[in-house]
Amino acid sequence: MLTWLVVLLLCAPGHASLPLVINTWAFRDAAAAAWRALQAGGGVLDAVEIGCARCEAEQCDGSVGFGGSPDETGETTLDAMIMNGNTMEVGAVADLRKVKNAIGVARAVMERTDHTLLVGESATAFAESMGFIPEDLTTNKSMNIFTQWLKGNCQPNYRKNVIPDPSKYCGPYKPTATPEPSRRPRLTNIHSHDTIGMIAVGEDGQVAAGTSTNGANHKVPGRVGDSPIAGAGAYADRSAGGAAATGDGDIMMRFLPSYLAVELMRAGADPSTACAMAISRIKRHYPQFFGAVICANTTGHYGAACNKRPGFSRFHYMVSDSHTDPPLLKSVDCF
Ligand SMILES: *[C@@H]1O[C@H](CO)[C@@H](O)[C@H](O)[C@H]1NC(C)=O
Ligand SMILES: *[C@@H]1O[C@H](CO)[C@@H](O)[C@H](O)[C@H]1NC(C)=O
Repeated sequence: MLTWLVVLLLCAPGHASLPLVINTWAFRDAAAAAWRALQAGGGVLDAVEIGCARCEAEQCDGSVGFGGSPDETGETTLDAMIMNGNTMEVGAVADLRKVKNAIGVARAVMERTDHTLLVGESATAFAESMGFIPEDLTTNKSMNIFTQWLKGNCQPNYRKNVIPDPSKYCGPYKPTATPEPSRRPRLTNIHSHDTIGMIAVGEDGQVAAGTSTNGANHKVPGRVGDSPIAGAGAYADRSAGGAAATGDGDIMMRFLPSYLAVELMRAGADPSTACAMAISRIKRHYPQFFGAVICANTTGHYGAACNKRPGFSRFHYMVSDSHTDPPLLKSVDCF
């Protein structure tokens, strides 16, 4: 009886141990790669970069890296960021084209420029100058998704207040005379919005966070989601903790949920509560939004929260610490 109680206490969610890596979704290989990087003596930035890069190379569930989420023209473009919670430096790329290792380029932006965010073809040119190899990000799979979408009259899509009627026809579109509040339900297939978000906390309490994604399926070309935006996709501050978000970035980026969660932890909220409060803030305005947040504080306590909606009642994330070898799949019930 007592033994069970002890086991229960030790295994309770959020049981703390440093170092710690947590990441969104059941992306096991990414978690393992990040953990190995720490074990091999790498720092928290290395862990986040290597973990997210693993997802980019393996395409995880198709929502990260090349060959996924083709835009309206069929091209895959990538968003990524990395943040050093020690120095508050951030490097990010958005609408990155023709380079697979988006988080690597993000880290180069942080370490080899004084900037924070580079975008589009110019980010590609920067990446090439830093030695990244330009490649076609299109695969048979992404080409197939794209051609099926074209055959299906470009449904679903993200257009509104345009002619021809975007709920029936492909573009090119022109604006209608008077924009009206949209009555179309938002495109909310949860697999069109996944992202790897990762937080690493070192033995000494250093914190880094990062993200990588290929964005939303059938997005309007040029669309950038929450992932490369500091405070939205991820945030890290070694005096408080780290957080990362996944879900409908178009909505989530308006609320800076990662920043909010870190500030709540700074104010004393435990990580699960901080995550839940960040979700609640968005829920107030968009009760049906799709999204989840992961949180970790500097003593290695962690938690997660998600918004319950049809088709999404439980969110999975990975935890790697000294108690979990290999990394452990955890889940939280959405509310
Ligand atoms: C992709 O499609 C082309 C032509 O349809 C085919 O030759 C090639 O083997 C395919 N590649 C893969 C990886 O399936
Ligand atoms: C992290 O969260 C846990 C759980 O709420 C709390 O006990 C701990 O004091 C927090 N650590 C810091 C540094 O605030």
